[in-house]
Amino acid sequence: MDIIICRDADEVGRVAAATVARIAEAVGPAVVLGVATGSSPLGLYQELARMVEAGELDLSEASAFALDEYVGLPEGHPESYAAVIQRTVTEPLKLDPARVHVPNGFDADPQQAALDYEEAIEDAGGVDVQILGIGSNGHIGFNEPASSLSSRTRLKTLTKRTREDNARFFDSIDQVPLHCLTQGLGTILDAGAAVLVAQGEGKADAVAAMVEGPLSASCPGSVLQLHRRATIVVDEAAASKLRNQGFYRWINDNRPAWQREIRGA
Ligand code: F6R
Repeated sequence: MDIIICRDADEVGRVAAATVARIAEAVGPAVVLGVATGSSPLGLYQELARMVEAGELDLSEASAFALDEYVGLPEGHPESYAAVIQRTVTEPLKLDPARVHVPNGFDADPQQAALDYEEAIEDAGGVDVQILGIGSNGHIGFNEPASSLSSRTRLKTLTKRTREDNARFFDSIDQVPLHCLTQGLGTILDAGAAVLVAQGEGKADAVAAMVEGPLSASCPGSVLQLHRRATIVVDEAAASKLRNQGFYRWINDNRPAWQREIRGA
């Protein structure tokens, strides 16, 4: 794992976007992005959008696969992840909507929709770079604690804590769905690269457990310890409970020139 501790949330967005853009450029125009919803990647998306607008990055031939979707919202609900991805990713990054995919949480048969989603990812050649946030309980995607470390896209039940965390997007917690479709931890591990962003003290415990805790389904994010190319970009507050902060900073301060260039630092 490559741990990058940034001064603040703005720097998290810039560094993470530079990392994603470098990977996208190396893969080529038909890069397949894995995209998360939630607050954490918004700065990253804003910076990618700025690059697209400035002509520094062209994603017009890229595809994207969202991590997850609620099950139980009416189709077209503004907080459905289909709608959120359209607002925060497809439009600002000027992606072709026909190549942007979200698990179909409105399907009468969500289990089949999950299987179809795995097949669609495979047909696209797999995700090249997966953008991730982490839940305060350590979830990635909507893989809640006790999720199988080798799971694939499937129907899951959200924890009370996740529903409380996400209640800010709804009028009340009762409106937050109980169920979701989510890429599995095995699906996420198959991505060519993973870039996870986290900001704020509320994520500090989850970040510490993910990076320095045991590999355990109790902290689903810890599965990234098995990923061969995972970059974790956090601000000071989210990094505050990492025991080896000094070492991660020292690595960053002493990167060989070629790596600084790759990172865009
Ligand atoms: C969203 C997702 C979740 C979020 C996590 C953090 O598609 O898969 O894992 O990344 O819940 O959410 P925020 O960023 O809103 O704190």
